[in-house]
Amino acid sequence: MPAVVIVGAQWGDEGKGKATDLLGGRVDYVVKPNGGNNAGHTVVVGGEKYELKLLPAGILSPNAIPMIGNGCVVNLEALFEEIDALEARGADTSRLRISANAHLVAPYHQVLDKVTERFLGKRAIGTTGRGIGPAYMDKVARLGIRVQDVFDESILRQKVEGSLAQKNELLVKVYNRRAIGVDETVQYFLDFAERLRPFVIDTTLELNRALDDGKVVLMEGGQATYLDVDHGTYPFVTSSNPTAGGASVGSGIGPSRITRVVGIIKAYTTRVGAGPFPTELFDEMGDYLQKKGGEFGVNTGRPRRCGWYDAVLARHASRINGFTDYFVTKLDVLTGIEKIPVCVAYDVDGVRHDEMPMTLTDFHHAKPIFEYFDGWTEDISDAKTLDELPTNARDYVLALEKMSGTRFSAIGVGPDRDQTIVLHDLIDD
Ligand code: GDP
Ligand code: IMO
Ligand code: MG
Repeated sequence: MPAVVIVGAQWGDEGKGKATDLLGGRVDYVVKPNGGNNAGHTVVVGGEKYELKLLPAGILSPNAIPMIGNGCVVNLEALFEEIDALEARGADTSRLRISANAHLVAPYHQVLDKVTERFLGKRAIGTTGRGIGPAYMDKVARLGIRVQDVFDESILRQKVEGSLAQKNELLVKVYNRRAIGVDETVQYFLDFAERLRPFVIDTTLELNRALDDGKVVLMEGGQATYLDVDHGTYPFVTSSNPTAGGASVGSGIGPSRITRVVGIIKAYTTRVGAGPFPTELFDEMGDYLQKKGGEFGVNTGRPRRCGWYDAVLARHASRINGFTDYFVTKLDVLTGIEKIPVCVAYDVDGVRHDEMPMTLTDFHHAKPIFEYFDGWTEDISDAKTLDELPTNARDYVLALEKMSGTRFSAIGVGPDRDQTIVLHDLIDD
């Protein structure tokens, strides 16, 4: 009953989609446990590029059943747009299953996301503007609309009324916006009901039965450890728990059934949106990584902030997720850099910190203490084993492994599925 979790170890966009795709041929289910259409996963299969937002990357694995788990927030308009775009390219999306307990993103959540960000001014989070935060706020406030509510018009109406009564006060009196009508919102949801119906099931029952039958389940987390609302750089985070524990809650697969927890981590670091980032580069080297790594957001098109690998973050992420493996991506992007700095500890106002400081204030003040590694110039994009890497690239990877708290099991040397050095099988070994 292998149940494997994929977790972003930094601030997102580590290559989780590629990792799912790599394993996709061998798994029976790929469930997305958290997030919504704030994610953006690029998957390159045989030179064909796919960009997924709400759907798990597993939708591209023909033998796997893709699922949107109970921990997700679903924008129905975005869902069907994505399905239609994939179908138009010949993909089969009919296997998709959606949890009846997942929450829905309403049009008013998107409005609130945008006006709240504007209201925050300099303190804005830099959200994706997809209404994700307000949808999760409603879930926790017990004002949310769930997927199953779309099939019961009278409950749906009651819930929309309840939610809008409060939101319209806020929109009109605080944000000076027009009130949103109950009828138009109810109709918005009802218009999707028939198309949605065949996709909706009790995903937890199906997943647990699948595990009982010895099937392989992959939980493909969206976002990442440092965007986690509990463990991330709060308040500059998303509103869900993209860490390993969240994968359990968000899919209904108990912790004791999880057999592997794979952290996906870039050989350097990127971040989209606001918030502290100790190894961030503000010089031409940052531009170089951005350009060479293609570091522009799939979802919003925003340029990603770039910096060096941060082993303090890697160690902390290893601990709080209980990683069994690291999959290091984008090593090839570092080819051609003469000396590669790696952050091994922080200097916080004159004091050395080998681990994450306790407070975000200290993390804001953290200056990286770097160790420097000799670079390489040889093309590594065809390497299939560690031995095929130039000595300096191998030394870099082995040094990172020693400081990162978890064994390295796979190394990405290019965007394509096949451009991966596998050291330990991520399901069986
Ligand atoms: P995700 O959100 O974690 O799935 O990651 P994104 O898809 O947003 O960003 C990762 C990007 O890196 C995508 O464009 C991938 O195609 C690309 N990628 C993944 N692994 C590698 C790698 O090993 N080398 C290179 N050059 N690109 C990679
Ligand atoms: P994937 O799955 C990178 C960031 C946003 C913002 C913060 C809150 O592709 O790794 P939200 O809209 O979620 O309320 O925004 O989180 N963010 C991501 N950054 N990759 C993502 O997803 C992200 N999803 C959200 O930029 O800083
Ligand atoms: Mg992404």
